[in-house]
Amino acid sequence: MGTSDLEPVSQQVRTYWDIDAATYDRSPGHHPRTALELAAWAGALRSLLPAPPARVLDVGAGTGFLSILLAKHGYAVSALDLSSAMLDRLKAKTSEAGLEITTIHADATETPLEDFDAVVERHLLWTMPGPRAALESWRRSSPSGRLVLLESLWGDAGGRAEQLRRSGHEALRRLRHGEHAHHAEYSADLRSNFPLSGGATPGDLVSLVESTSWGAARLERLRDVEWATRQALPSWADRLIGVAPHFAVVAG
Ligand SMILES: C[S@@+](CC[C@H](N)C(=O)[O-])C[C@H]1O[C@@H](n2cnc3c(N)ncnc32)[C@H](O)[C@@H]1O
Repeated sequence: MGTSDLEPVSQQVRTYWDIDAATYDRSPGHHPRTALELAAWAGALRSLLPAPPARVLDVGAGTGFLSILLAKHGYAVSALDLSSAMLDRLKAKTSEAGLEITTIHADATETPLEDFDAVVERHLLWTMPGPRAALESWRRSSPSGRLVLLESLWGDAGGRAEQLRRSGHEALRRLRHGEHAHHAEYSADLRSNFPLSGGATPGDLVSLVESTSWGAARLERLRDVEWATRQALPSWADRLIGVAPHFAVVAG
């Protein structure tokens, strides 16, 4: 695909997230808030990343869940995103929390060459036209640092079990008249540009990372995060349905 073909795609993606910024944090999964969830995520990040005050680049940072948690725990964070509206939300939350985070309005395939100690992402790779090119750019931004991909199992990659789980939560949300966190779905046309738009298994992501200059990767299941996320679900029926497996792929 040539650059001229990519431009409309990245504009569509930017427009989608610019609109979604207004509602994105409605989902507890997007914006965990309980003390238990925050502690579980903090524990996971601390065990996966170099010690603070390491310099961390959060790619596709969105409204800043990871960036803000990392800054709270003493990391020097740069948050990069294609959507200025998502970054505006991140900036508002950062100043509310009395923290400092550098924001970068850019595409995740054009990351700054600043020798970061680590690059982290959560739920970005599925919406990249070139996940491998993005990973190569992140390696150039962190030539001797660490890569931490924070993902969960969903979509086609999660198989029938995860699709049923998602439908169950969705049905319960409708019964509660709960509002949706996304203003729309990507169109089939837009999704067709992204090789991981149906999700990715842990194995898919390990193979992808190992096919780049990051080299050997390891996998960690984030069981404490899963447990804390389940406790924070809004009803006993949601807790019975449970949460999708959460995991990290780490390299470098
Ligand atoms: C599903 S959200 C994840 C946000 C955040 N990482 C989180 O865990 O809540 C995906 C984010 O990636 C951003 N994004 C999508 N494509 C991008 C690209 N090519 N370059 C940079 N950011 C991108 C979107 O604007 C959005 O904020």
